[in-house]
Amino acid sequence: MSVNVKQLAAEKAVEYVQDGMKVGLGTGSTAYWAIRKLGERVQQGLKITAVATSRASEDQARELGIPLVAFGDIDSLDLTIDGADELDGDLQLIKGGGGALLREKIVAMGSTRMIVVADESKAVQTLGKFPLPVEIVPFAWEWTIAKLAMLGCNPELRRSGDELYKTDNGNYIADCRFEVIASAPELALSLQGISGVVDHGLFIGIASMAIIGKNDGSIEIIEGETHL
Ligand code: 5RP
Repeated sequence: MSVNVKQLAAEKAVEYVQDGMKVGLGTGSTAYWAIRKLGERVQQGLKITAVATSRASEDQARELGIPLVAFGDIDSLDLTIDGADELDGDLQLIKGGGGALLREKIVAMGSTRMIVVADESKAVQTLGKFPLPVEIVPFAWEWTIAKLAMLGCNPELRRSGDELYKTDNGNYIADCRFEVIASAPELALSLQGISGVVDHGLFIGIASMAIIGKNDGSIEIIEGETHL
């Protein structure tokens, strides 16, 4: 039987959740397994409150009976568990493949710890093969795309069937193919300088640990620093 490496990594991360914690719930097919395991533990008596990074994760948590709170009702989170599209050895990430990067970043940055859960295909030497998702406002998107292209990528507006894809916040996503991102911090600064950009999928200095599920059934843990 083949190993479900996403499930392996996600369930390991859930072991770090303790009674009384306020937990951020990520988005995507790896975070799905973490939320599922968390639901099981809640049904066995674990006491937590959670916030979700997307409607999909919120719906899943609600169905499993995980108590959800509004952001306004808490001022910080203890731990967020979320997936990534790419991660390097310094715990720099590309996120946003599922389109939830803005909420994911707000939640992760409001958490004392963020654990990234991923299968080994996501671990890379240098970020950039995965097109970097950049959330942009619909207003004057053509200008924003042109400015993104000047950073050396090939931006494409994400589509959902015949329509332009819209995030949970009503914005567009430009997927920016860089191939190699030599300096993620420098690129992050350049992106922040473009006025139509709401946020981008580079997570730098945010994740405190990565749990990587491997095809042979083992788990690799990369530890970083807790950022708050
Ligand atoms: C969603 C994300 C996801 O965490 C990322 O796309 C990884 O997803 P998956 O676990 O399905 O591979 O950033 O915006």
